[in-house]
Amino acid sequence: MLSPPATAPVDDWTTDYDIFDPEYVKDPTPVWKDLREGCPMARTDRRGIRSWLPTKYADVQALAKIVPELSSKDPLVVTLPPDMDVVDNSSGLNAPPISADPPEQIWTRRMILPAFAPRAVEAHREFTEDLCNRLIDGFIDDGRCDAAVDYAQQIPPRVIAHMLGFDPNKADDFTEWVRGVLELGLADPKIRVKYRDIIQNFLITEVTSRAKEPRDDYLSELLAMDIPEMKGREIQVVVGIANLLLIAGIDTTWSSIGSALYHFGTHPDDRRRLAADDALFPTALEEMLRYYSPVTMARMAQEDVPFGDIVIRDGEKVLMNFPGANHDEDAFEDADKVLIDRTRNRHIAFGSGIHRCAGSNLARLEMDVSVRTWFARIPEFEVSNPDAVTWAGGQVRGPRKLPMRF
Ligand code: HEM
Repeated sequence: MLSPPATAPVDDWTTDYDIFDPEYVKDPTPVWKDLREGCPMARTDRRGIRSWLPTKYADVQALAKIVPELSSKDPLVVTLPPDMDVVDNSSGLNAPPISADPPEQIWTRRMILPAFAPRAVEAHREFTEDLCNRLIDGFIDDGRCDAAVDYAQQIPPRVIAHMLGFDPNKADDFTEWVRGVLELGLADPKIRVKYRDIIQNFLITEVTSRAKEPRDDYLSELLAMDIPEMKGREIQVVVGIANLLLIAGIDTTWSSIGSALYHFGTHPDDRRRLAADDALFPTALEEMLRYYSPVTMARMAQEDVPFGDIVIRDGEKVLMNFPGANHDEDAFEDADKVLIDRTRNRHIAFGSGIHRCAGSNLARLEMDVSVRTWFARIPEFEVSNPDAVTWAGGQVRGPRKLPMRF
C-alpha cells in the first residue's frame, strides 16, 4: 500500500500540524487534547496550501454554518503537493450534494433523502444479514480472520451495489476504486485521477443505459424525478449523485464497522459486557461512532472569513474535524474514554449543518447488523496481534488490517 507523501516530522502541532503523521494516524486523541488546551485552531502550510484544524466541538459546529463563504466545492481534505501538479489537480469530485453549495446542494440532497429514510433503509436489513452470515461462514471454522479485509470491507460495497442495482460481482472493484480515490489517491494525484475516471466511466455507462431503457431500480428512479433544475442534464446529475453514494457509503462505513470490532477485540471487558447484554447495542454503537469517528471533510474559503481571533483567508482550507470535536471535554464527559452505556451522546460523526450525512440511517443499519451478527456467531474474540493492526488516516480513518482470533 502507498503511504501519504513523506513529510518532515512535526515540531510544533499548533503551526505545522500534519494529519498524515504516523502517530496521529494511529491515535490522534493526545494531539487534539493538547491543541484544544493551547491552540484550538491549529494551522499548517504543508502540502502547498494553508489549512486550519479546529479541535473544539463548538468551533466545528460554528464553522459548518458558514456557508457558502466556507465552500464545499473542493471537499478533499488537503490539496496535493505542488510538485504533483503535473496532472489535473482539481479534486474532480462531481459528487453533489457533498461537492456543492446551495442552491445545487439543496435540490440534489432532496432527491436522495427519501431512499435513506429510516423505513426505506430497513428494506436492506435482510440482505445485509444474509451477507454478514455468509461472510462469517467463510472463516468461522478457521478460528481466525482479518476482520477488516474479510469482513468489514466486504459489507458496504455489496450493500451499495445492491441498493444502486449494480452487478454484485463488481463489489470488489468498488472497494479498490474507492480506496484509489480516497486513500491512496490522497498521496498520489495520478492514482486519484485514474480511479476517479474509472468510476466516472463505469457510472456513465450504467446511467446512460438506464436513460435509454429504464429499469426497476434506484438509478432509473433518480433519472425519472421531475426536478426542473435537472432538466437537460439528467445523466450528468445522476452520475454525480451515484458517484457520491459509491464513495461516501463505502470506506466510511467499513471503517466504522472495523473500528467497532477493533475496540471489542482489544477491550475484553467491554466485549463481555456487550455479549451478555443485547440492550447495550444502541448506546455501544453510538459510542463507537463518537470515539472512532472516521470522517474528516474540508471547506475552502471563498473570501476572508474572520473566526474568533483568526482570519481564514480567501483560498485557505478548514478541516471539518468532526472526529476531534467528538473528543471535546466541553461537550462530552470523560470524552477520551469509551463508555458503551453513554446515554448523552450528541456526537457529530455524521457531520453538522446542511451537509450532515444523508446516509446515516443506512450506515447505522449496516453497523448494527454487522456487529450484532458478529457477536451472535463469534461472541469470544480478540485482536491476535495489536502491533499488526494498520490504520488509514486522512479523510477517512479506520483499521485496514485487523488480525482477529476466536
Ligand atoms: C459510518 C458511516 C458514515 C459516516 C461516519 C459518514 C459521515 C459523513 C459526514 C461527516 C458527512 C458530512 C460531510 C461534510 O460536512 O462535508 C457525510 C455526508 C454525506 N454522506 Fe455520509 N457517512 C457515513 C456513511 C454514509 C453512507 C452509507 C451513505 C450513503 C450510501 C452516505 C452518504 C452521504 C451523503 C450523500 C452525504 C452528503 C450530504 C450533503 O452534502 O448534503 N454516508 N457523511
